[in-house]
Amino acid sequence: MLGNFKYSNPTTLYFGKDALNALRDELKQYGPTIMLSYGGGSIKRNGIYDAVIEVLQTCGKHIVEDAGVMPNPTAEKLREGVNLAKANKVDLILAVGGGSTIDYAKAVSVAVDCDKDPWTHFFLERNEPQGKIVPVGAILTMVGTGSEMNGGSVITDSATGLKIGHVFAENVFPKFAILNPEFTYTIPAYHMVAGFFDIMSHIMEQYFSNTDDNTSDYLAEGLMRSLIHSSRIAVLNPQDYEARSNIMWVATWALNTLISKGKDGDWNVHMLGQAIGGVTNATHGMTLAAVSLPYYRRIMKAGLPKFVRFATNVWDVATDGRTEEQIAVIGLERLEDWMRELGLVMHAAELGLSEANLEKTADGVFLIGSGYKPLTREFVLEILKASL
Ligand code: NZQ
Ligand code: ZN
Repeated sequence: MLGNFKYSNPTTLYFGKDALNALRDELKQYGPTIMLSYGGGSIKRNGIYDAVIEVLQTCGKHIVEDAGVMPNPTAEKLREGVNLAKANKVDLILAVGGGSTIDYAKAVSVAVDCDKDPWTHFFLERNEPQGKIVPVGAILTMVGTGSEMNGGSVITDSATGLKIGHVFAENVFPKFAILNPEFTYTIPAYHMVAGFFDIMSHIMEQYFSNTDDNTSDYLAEGLMRSLIHSSRIAVLNPQDYEARSNIMWVATWALNTLISKGKDGDWNVHMLGQAIGGVTNATHGMTLAAVSLPYYRRIMKAGLPKFVRFATNVWDVATDGRTEEQIAVIGLERLEDWMRELGLVMHAAELGLSEANLEKTADGVFLIGSGYKPLTREFVLEILKASL
């Protein structure tokens, strides 16, 4: 049964080959000083930086350059960004990049009007913003996280190896997001497929809960089928616009709060993956890939009817003559085949997890108590060992 919920999403989204044309009009709504946040330089190599600068300049904006947002953005970089934004009294933070840059921009946006240390206050202690929030605009260049249309922000403290996400309310969502699938063509294959799995994981983690007849689950199944279909095309031809644009759109819907409505979720794979990322600095989607099968195979019996539904409705596993358990097992085998087809990392040892840092990693897993079989420390260690 669908539970009670409110649904609204304040992000205005522009999609398609001409999406950047919307930037000029959007900028009219904001003051003169724009903080341009971006990553390690991919946007300079693929021309997106020049295109954005041209719009900013012709709109007469004063640009505050904020380069070097790293994958898995750090607390240290966040503090630098907050100081820069404060010193320049910025009117808008324009994040050009993937989830890391957009997440970072949101974290800066809530911390500008706050005297506390941003990592401690918003991530360790998870306080909600009280002061003024600087508006954020996003130009997406890497597909996967859904950060372009949600309140998520994930920051890593490299000093302690803790990676923590804060899901902020609607007032922190990007005010607008520009999604041109062609901007994603230059993503290296490793990051592209990591993003594909991140999308799948977001959907699965909202899907695997309850057993009832829930519209959100039918939406999730449709999104998974679209992703599986288009990803198979995109790995063979990364410049297939149809496939890349469909995946970009799936990624946004996978985590813009829609498919979680009226139901529980199970975010344990993200809790495990985040802990691995905190200790190893590995690519987010790959950390999820490494732990997913060990995790799902262990909870399968506890949520059997849903795993049967996953096998039949997402992977077209025929039911005839098979037990429920056999059907569910085949569903997870199909998931594994698809993951191998994409070339995902299947073992966390390849990401830097080892017996030596297993306990530390387990310390960083948040036991959120959701899912068919809630995580305990013992269960965490079992999954992490199995993922090596
Ligand atoms: O830094 P640059 O030089 O731009 O290179 C990036 C980076 O190395 C590169 N890249 C991005 N767009 C490119 C490109 N290279 C060539 N051409 C392009 N068009 O790709 C690399 C990865 O980028 P990153 O932003 O780190 O990837 P992603 O979008 O996967 O973001 C990962 C971060 O988002 C968090 C993760 O934990 C991680 O910290 N997440 C955020 C969520 C949210 N806001 O709701 C939810 C997710 O579950 C996730 O936790
Ligand atoms: Zn994710």
